[in-house]
Amino acid sequence: MRIRRLQPDDERSGFSCGDPDFDDFIRKYAGQYQFRHHVGVTIVAVDDERVVGYATVVPGSVDGDELSELERRRLPKHPVPVLRLARLAVDSRYQGRGLGRRLVREVLLVALRMRTDLGCTAVIVDALKSRASFYEGLGFEPMVPLQGRPRVAGATAMFLPLRRIAGAAQGTETG
Ligand SMILES: CC(C)(COP(=O)(O)OP(=O)(O)OC[C@H]1O[C@@H](n2cnc3c(N)ncnc32)[C@H](O)[C@@H]1OP(=O)(O)O)[C@@H](O)C(=O)NCCC(=O)NCCS
Repeated sequence: MRIRRLQPDDERSGFSCGDPDFDDFIRKYAGQYQFRHHVGVTIVAVDDERVVGYATVVPGSVDGDELSELERRRLPKHPVPVLRLARLAVDSRYQGRGLGRRLVREVLLVALRMRTDLGCTAVIVDALKSRASFYEGLGFEPMVPLQGRPRVAGATAMFLPLRRIAGAAQGTETG
């Protein structure tokens, strides 16, 4: 199993995670995002020459107020840079073996590089309600909803401050 950036000719036409929206994205759109429009990058797990898991990240910014009370006190009073985990999915045949966790760990490494090169305070994700406990298990915590409303209907906005994981994650493997 290799974890690396998506390449244009990666075989992904058979990817199937149980959610057609996530299947469509890796099959049809992730390449356009990365190679044509440059609006995001997808990290893939490749086994037997096929993509079996992926995480798509895009740079973004949020108001410190949207993070936690603690972050609000620590951070400047203007939008701060973050890395958004826009998509995460693992092929059904590979679920439950720690691959989702490995992909998130890789995303944290991307965020740490971004922090060094450009600045980055946290990884954020709009987690489907049914997946919130997956992210909680990885150390994410709920963000403060702006004006009491979630940014994405039906999703829980969550974040993981990089200052918390910097030391631990730097010791992990890159692919
Ligand atoms: C959600 C998903 C990415 C998890 O990937 P995975 O490789 O099966 O997860 P892992 O094996 O790395 O699991 C890591 C931990 O999360 C837990 N977990 C896995 N799926 C979970 C879920 N759907 N809800 C809550 N916890 C979950 C595991 O039990 C494990 O906990 P443990 O370490 O205490 O045993 C995968 O199930 C998937 O692709 N689902 C369909 C697409 C989707 O819903 N994407 C997420 C959108 S927010």
